[in-house]
Amino acid sequence: MTDNTNAPETPSDPEPDPIKRASFLRGEIRRHNALYFQQDRPEIPDDVYDRLVRELEEIEAAHPELAAGSPTSEVAPPPGGRSLNEVIHDSPMLSLDKALSVQEILDFEDRIKRFLGSSEPLSFYTMPKFDGLAVELSYVDGTLKLASTRGDGRRGEDITPNAKTIDGIPKTLNPGAPKADLFVRGEVYMEKEEFSRLNEEREAAGQSIFANPRNAAAGSLRQLDANVTQKRKLRFFSYGLSEPAASGAATYGGLMKALSKWGFPVESSKASRVNENLAEALAVFRELETDRDSLPFEVDGLVITVEDLSLWSRLGATSRAPRYAVAAKFKPRAARTKVLAIEIQVGRTGALTPVAFMEPVMVSGVRVAQATLHNEDELKRKDVRVGDFVILQRAGDVIPEIVEVDLEKRPTGLLPFEFPKNCPVCGTAAVRKKDEAVSRCPNRSCPAQIEARLIHFAHKNALDIDGLGQKVAALLLANGLVKQPSDLFRLTPDDLAKLPRFGDKSAAKLIEGIDKARTKSLWRFINALSIRHVGERVSQILASRFDSLAALSEATKDQLQALGDIGPEVAKSVLDFFQSPLTHSFLRDLMDESLVRPTKDEPDAGGALSGKRFVLTGTLSTMTRAEAKSRIAAKGGRVLSSVSKDTDYVIAGEAAGSKFANAKSLNIAILDEEAFIKMLD
Ligand code: IVH
Repeated sequence: MTDNTNAPETPSDPEPDPIKRASFLRGEIRRHNALYFQQDRPEIPDDVYDRLVRELEEIEAAHPELAAGSPTSEVAPPPGGRSLNEVIHDSPMLSLDKALSVQEILDFEDRIKRFLGSSEPLSFYTMPKFDGLAVELSYVDGTLKLASTRGDGRRGEDITPNAKTIDGIPKTLNPGAPKADLFVRGEVYMEKEEFSRLNEEREAAGQSIFANPRNAAAGSLRQLDANVTQKRKLRFFSYGLSEPAASGAATYGGLMKALSKWGFPVESSKASRVNENLAEALAVFRELETDRDSLPFEVDGLVITVEDLSLWSRLGATSRAPRYAVAAKFKPRAARTKVLAIEIQVGRTGALTPVAFMEPVMVSGVRVAQATLHNEDELKRKDVRVGDFVILQRAGDVIPEIVEVDLEKRPTGLLPFEFPKNCPVCGTAAVRKKDEAVSRCPNRSCPAQIEARLIHFAHKNALDIDGLGQKVAALLLANGLVKQPSDLFRLTPDDLAKLPRFGDKSAAKLIEGIDKARTKSLWRFINALSIRHVGERVSQILASRFDSLAALSEATKDQLQALGDIGPEVAKSVLDFFQSPLTHSFLRDLMDESLVRPTKDEPDAGGALSGKRFVLTGTLSTMTRAEAKSRIAAKGGRVLSSVSKDTDYVIAGEAAGSKFANAKSLNIAILDEEAFIKMLD
């Protein structure tokens, strides 16, 4: 979710308070973990994620007291609400530490030598790092009994029927394989060609396409219906055993040979090999980084592992990753294409955002045709011109970014892009504040802003009106049925019947969506207003303090600033909004009880905490009590003031009082702050 009006939640001062920054990073990392692992829809590229983790690790190294309960010491995120059966891994499926530069690969060897207290030369096995998902296969007496995903490392999901549809996964082992229980680990992945085929098929069928082969593999494997899995050609490479000693081998290379003999596919490109020393492994790393496109599957790095298995047990593992291996990551991949046009888009708060439209190009199997240039300064810094060839990057295959212009290929005579002095839609002179990178159209009546605000009004995080997306918003505005978002509440089926290409079904759905919106919770109405710096979280804080839009509209600066987490800039933006004559008719409608009745802390039916009763005690370090309350309410839970046998959870902060003791005596689940935040996330 990008929310350009949200309060700047990333502290941007050069040396932010480490406690706040660590808390922010923990929240972000958890959120991205959930998006990546549970929902298969990452929002940020891997390297950006890696930098967040790295930053948090650095803060925690300097302030060890902040490290307790941090995601840096967890293998992966808590399991999501899937309905595949849970499988507990007897020995946890760990992650790998990452090396993001050659220096960090060298550091890896130094660490090992220091740990072992020896300077003996070490040999290493190298193998491409596959961009798929880890699974464990359990064999009893040579027959596949259970297949599971890694999940959070301790608990995964039972995917046995799905795994059995994958060609490379042996159902029975070759003669000579151990008869004893065997737990084989490896990666399920999708080849690039199959990934493109699948996406083309999905696109043609109007289905959403997968961002990258990893997501496609995960989505295909974690299916409740194994027939679906079978139709997607998934593959498997084995890379280890839960108990390496079970192979009888003395080296990792030997273990890989054993796996292959028993019937498991093992990767066999020239990058999979034994290296006499780290220098050799580094050469393999460099070569694979250049050649990775020649492999039929995506790789995002090289796994470098100590070859001598007897050292594995001496080196051991942290709670997160073994000390004897490292994932050396490649630089994000790039592609070159030509800029056909640069357009300025106008957002709901008037922000003018330059967007480059390019000759479509494939980057890691995905077609990219446009990329944001963020703002005037970014555009100037990169000096992208229409007609330029640019280097595009889709690091982690999520957001396409223009990294730089290929100046050598710049045709002569290209002129720098003139950032418009006026809004390209309504013509009003753009305004750029001294300390801001963004220039804005100050005209709240600008048609582009009105459309963007209408779309936001109906957005999932605002009034969540089904059936009102970009197309319908444009249609309603173009036909004069809606001039400001509050007009929605006066629409009748007859009005909608007049719209071109708008069927009865769509009309009924829209009317129903609008009716449901009339009584949504107050914070949703606040968020729907498109007040600058007021996103979901700030809206929840405001809703917890003010009983109605009317009360909020009369708030004073002091009242606003007295709320935790609301700074002068946000307060000013709220005041400006309510003082602007332009918002008055809109507000009148929204405060008109016959049209809408925002509910105060009304549990959202269907929220993740729907129907659950909470009691708060003690002080939380990362949020005020008001915020905790509204965040619980936003997810459908209720906060009560005293503990009874009907209480579902007691949230215990610092210096929790008698409620804590009460909860204990009544045997009610008690959550500390970390667990509570996890639950909210
Ligand atoms: S060895 C302790 N080898 O990377 C885990 N892992 O970041 C030892 N991965 O979950 C794993 N390619 O799924 C190993 N050639 C490879 C790999 C590989 C991909 C994945 C693996 C693991 C993740 C860790």
